[in-house]
Amino acid sequence: MTNEHAIDVRDLSLTYAGQPPVIALEAVDLAVARGEFAALLGPSGCGKSTLLRVVAGLVRPTTGEVHAEDVAYMPQRDLLLPWRRVVGNATFAAELAGVPAAEARTRALALLGRFGLAGFERSWPAQLSGGMRQRLALLRTFLAPRHTLLLDEPFGALDAITRHEMQRWLQGVLTEEPRTVLLVTHDVEEALTLADTVYVMSPRPGRIVTRVDVRLARPRDALTVISAEFTSLKARLLSALEGDAAPEAYR
Ligand SMILES: Nc1ncnc2c1ncn2[C@@H]1O[C@H](COP(=O)(O)OP(=O)(O)O)[C@@H](O)[C@H]1O
Ligand SMILES: [Mg+2]
Repeated sequence: MTNEHAIDVRDLSLTYAGQPPVIALEAVDLAVARGEFAALLGPSGCGKSTLLRVVAGLVRPTTGEVHAEDVAYMPQRDLLLPWRRVVGNATFAAELAGVPAAEARTRALALLGRFGLAGFERSWPAQLSGGMRQRLALLRTFLAPRHTLLLDEPFGALDAITRHEMQRWLQGVLTEEPRTVLLVTHDVEEALTLADTVYVMSPRPGRIVTRVDVRLARPRDALTVISAEFTSLKARLLSALEGDAAPEAYR
């Protein structure tokens, strides 16, 4: 297995033990280069979160190999700590990773404005809007300090307008704070707005059925979404999601 990728998944399968056993993933291959933004698109229940947990090292695959460097994982639920203020939540992952508290706090305070949380450092999570909670969970992940971010539907709980704002905002943040990203989503437009590469998974057991390279110029905005190229990529992804892609279309 080569190490030129930040994430390299080879022939990975995962079966949850039980009565009956659940085959969640089957023969998944996926490679993400350093600095690349990859999106994983698939129907609900196809194994996206499972794949992310395997890459995060939280679940062992049944068969296959996983190589992932220096990852920070943001689970599907934001899991903010209600008893910690905004700053305390922002620094939590960094503290766990051994960053001295004062240093984590300085970095958090410096990025608070960029994450739309200036003035809220002493607020409690319960006092924040849904978009602010998601930005705080993202800030915590950015401060982890890791180069590869695994983001599980980070905007899934937001209304469409807020989601679009957050997608545009995340592109800006990544320009200033570059990372390798593997993002899980079930939203085709979100994948095309954010990613360099989009992988489409089949319904469970999840397999990769299609890989699409997205060469749309950045930053991608409301005009990108109505462009002919975006529309044609969207049609390709939707048809792959509907099961029209031949398995050999991948690789
Ligand atoms: N801990 C678990 N034990 C047993 N089955 C699970 C577990 N976690 C997920 N599953 C099952 O595995 C399949 C994939 O789940 P998941 O990875 O959460 O899909 P997705 O994130 O794409 O919606 C689903 O059928 C789900 O019910
Ligand atoms: Mg999921």
